[in-house]
Amino acid sequence: MKHLLSVTDLDAAEATALLDTADRLKQALLGREVRKLPTLRGRTVITMFYEDSTRTRVSFEIAGKWMSADTINVSARGSSVSKGESLRDTSLTLSSMGADCVVVRHPASGAAHRIAAWTDRDRAVTGIHTSIVNAGDGTHEHPTQALLDAATLRERLGGIAGRRVGIVGDVLHSRVARSNVFLLATLGAEVVLIAPPTLLPVGVEEWPCRVSAELDAELPALDAVMMLRVQAERMHGAFFPSSREYAIRYGLSPERAALLPDHAIVMHPGPMIRGMEIAPSVADAPSSAILGQVRNGVHVRMAVLYHLLAGASS
Ligand code: CP
Repeated sequence: MKHLLSVTDLDAAEATALLDTADRLKQALLGREVRKLPTLRGRTVITMFYEDSTRTRVSFEIAGKWMSADTINVSARGSSVSKGESLRDTSLTLSSMGADCVVVRHPASGAAHRIAAWTDRDRAVTGIHTSIVNAGDGTHEHPTQALLDAATLRERLGGIAGRRVGIVGDVLHSRVARSNVFLLATLGAEVVLIAPPTLLPVGVEEWPCRVSAELDAELPALDAVMMLRVQAERMHGAFFPSSREYAIRYGLSPERAALLPDHAIVMHPGPMIRGMEIAPSVADAPSSAILGQVRNGVHVRMAVLYHLLAGASS
């Protein structure tokens, strides 16, 4: 694996290999006094975030540190981006300093792909290979979120193939939804997107999933329900339906959660808007896998760094 830009770069065997590595790393590290592996000693991982993040940025930093890589965080605020430096110049600057991996989050869909193309071209001159990881690009993709969600589904449901997963809410602005639909379909799950028609993207009928507007009718058949964050920052003030209507029709209330089968799990990529997308009592119930998703994020990101950097050196 050279870069991780999109889940569509992964076939079922490659995605499963990443999940298996994450499992092995989790087993190796959990409950042991030694929490650090020497695997990536001497490697440099830079996180370059042009949008805010808690889970993704911190878990990549932990993942790098737990594998003994040198990790450095760059954010748009506080870097030369605020002086007007272009994305291309910033990326090539970090690559030229010898970054083995740049983990990038950017508001523009396709940004990670562009950076990979620039650094690959620059490699011919510098001889430096820099792996690029897409940590969320606009409304396009968030591949490591989908991988950690798949790890959580596998752990909590015993497998993914044949499981029924509902993804609920603001699909239009969600890179998490797109990455999950394509990865879960690759791994054999049945996915249904449940959303108001105003929050569905053009072309969704070509995605490998079903689409529904009726949450209450879908819940009894699901093995997992994944609530999405409503991305008000991408709506430019025009949120339709209103947040009140949204909560009434698509919020996961305790009454709605009771429609799920007993074995079903509740997921959310975070950050959650409690009270609108999901009731606090549902988010904190035993059926909630939300903190498990966060924990798996560290091991999945360790696996991604391992496959990109240790694989490349062997
Ligand atoms: N799920 C997710 O990407 O969270 P952050 O924005 O906190 O990284």
